[in-house]
Amino acid sequence: MAELLNQTINQDLFELLDWLPVGFVDLLFVDPPYNLSKSFGAASFRERSVADYQLWLEAWLPRLLPILKPTASVYLCGDWRSAAAIQTVMQQHLILRNCITWEREKGRGAKANWKNAAEQIWFGTVSERYTFNLEAVKLKRRVIAPYRDASGQPKDWQRQSSGNYRLTHPSNLWTDLTVPFWSMSENTDHPTQKPEKLLAKIILASSNPGDLVFDPFLGAGTAAVVAKKTGRSYVGIELDPVYCCLSEKRLALAEQNRSIQGYAEGVFWERNSQPNLE
Ligand SMILES: C[S@@+](CC[C@H](N)C(=O)[O-])C[C@H]1O[C@@H](n2cnc3c(N)ncnc32)[C@H](O)[C@@H]1O
Repeated sequence: MAELLNQTINQDLFELLDWLPVGFVDLLFVDPPYNLSKSFGAASFRERSVADYQLWLEAWLPRLLPILKPTASVYLCGDWRSAAAIQTVMQQHLILRNCITWEREKGRGAKANWKNAAEQIWFGTVSERYTFNLEAVKLKRRVIAPYRDASGQPKDWQRQSSGNYRLTHPSNLWTDLTVPFWSMSENTDHPTQKPEKLLAKIILASSNPGDLVFDPFLGAGTAAVVAKKTGRSYVGIELDPVYCCLSEKRLALAEQNRSIQGYAEGVFWERNSQPNLE
């Protein structure tokens, strides 16, 4: 196990499945190719029927279950087209606890349809015993109408030099994320890179410092980078060698810079509201 710790493994997940240790993962984050025709470096994923996508999910998700600790949490990303397949497979193998919807700020364009500006993340656990650090994932929102109680005191908000803010409990609707773009330091050439802020919410809520985060479709390494920045260990698998290099470069940069855009002072800031940084 020590050989795997904090490693980026450049291999096909299907070739590794039978060789992974048992019961070593606290948090499994999975961002597989969605059911769309898309190229990832030299390899590409072909869109298939929902039934065939479900078969593809079943070819690897159940085989990852033995690597999980009994207290582990699982997050699986997808979109509305594959919702039925993902929900079925998650429910079959895990205790399904929620489905998060997060807003893509710009959305994916369409001429004769509603623009798709939402993606989903299914959240499940192995058992009833699992980590959920509610206090670690509060959202700091600007207060538009600052209400005061009868004695004139602010009701559930605080005044700061940059404005009035309220700390709110996190819901399953995330509207505070920005998909990495060219001027953000976390941006790489990976075509479907997740925001570090999205991973920070998941990792801070569903693991503790020192825990191990496993990502079998690592891409440009977002889960590993955020695990490192938040004091967790990681293991990531990625098929494409160039994406593995992007991940390693980001992990090296994280030695010096542990900041996560949109997360500061122990709270998540509403989109474009973090003073001086966004
Ligand atoms: C949706 S992307 C993940 C993006 C990642 N979450 C990030 O933030 O950069 C899916 C990744 O899975 C990789 N992949 C596809 N099939 C794979 C397989 N059989 N084994 C390992 N990686 C695979 C692709 O190369 C792609 O980089």
